[in-house]
Amino acid sequence: MDRREAMLRELNLYPVWVRRDPAPSDQPVAESAVNAAPVDAVEAVEAVEAVEAVEAVEAVEAVEAVEPSFVSDAVTVSQYAAEIIEAQVPVADLFASDFQSATLGDAADNSLREFQLKNSGGLLGATDWPELQQKVQECADCKLRAECTQPVFGTGDLHARWLFVGEAPGAEEDERCEPFVGASGRLLDNMLLAIGLQRSEVYLANVIKCRPTDDRHPHVGEIAACLPYLKRQIGLLQPAVIVALGKTAASALLETDATIASLRGSVHDYKGIPLVVTYHPAYLLRSPLEKARAWQDLCLAVQTMEGCSG
Ligand code: URA
Repeated sequence: MDRREAMLRELNLYPVWVRRDPAPSDQPVAESAVNAAPVDAVEAVEAVEAVEAVEAVEAVEAVEAVEPSFVSDAVTVSQYAAEIIEAQVPVADLFASDFQSATLGDAADNSLREFQLKNSGGLLGATDWPELQQKVQECADCKLRAECTQPVFGTGDLHARWLFVGEAPGAEEDERCEPFVGASGRLLDNMLLAIGLQRSEVYLANVIKCRPTDDRHPHVGEIAACLPYLKRQIGLLQPAVIVALGKTAASALLETDATIASLRGSVHDYKGIPLVVTYHPAYLLRSPLEKARAWQDLCLAVQTMEGCSG
């Protein structure tokens, strides 16, 4: 058995690989497969927190157009997020010129500005790769940084046409400061090989840069605080195709709570960049029968990339 065959066998893909036409991706998905989908971050948090996060995301969207015109101080983004939620500020009021000081006071004024800037791209909009990495290194916007060994920024070719996005570092990633180096990373390497890619040819990043303690799914507040870094990475990289690995990456980038089962099989749009959704390798390790569906997703991603090139 050669290396390619061994790798395809490991992915449960060998019989699928030899078909001329991959099975249609819209074939009925067994109820059991849907039910076996991994529990996502949103499901993992309290309902009240989810509601707050929705409000925060709406606020983020509403301030997209804000022009960066001020200097922030050390008040953190997460403090601001808490403050706008606490104050029950209508999103439209975020634009009012007298809103910041009248509603939240001076300290909140600064955190409002930082939150607006970070999420509108203003705070990170001019950062290059080294500056961005430095900001991630220094970030303390949520409590994960205090509990992890080090942030795991991302790795790969800074000119890659492929971006693969996971959820968050695990224990091995936290220790080695590189995404996807544990068991799911070894499977991801094989998935890449199956479509003719080496790890060094793609860029790998996570939604969350710091390992959540006990490898729990990240909370929505942590995702809201960390997502701007991934968005800036995408802005700098400008990949031709993004592959979202799992629910957290798909939900965060597509701003949806839809299931993986419903998102896979079509090409989505992230700010003009085609985005394909597939299962997270950790889920595939637990549910190896789903690897055939992941293979269909990878085929769709390859087709999409070919469409971009042609
Ligand atoms: N799972 C992820 O989502 N990312 C990693 O880097 C490792 C495991």
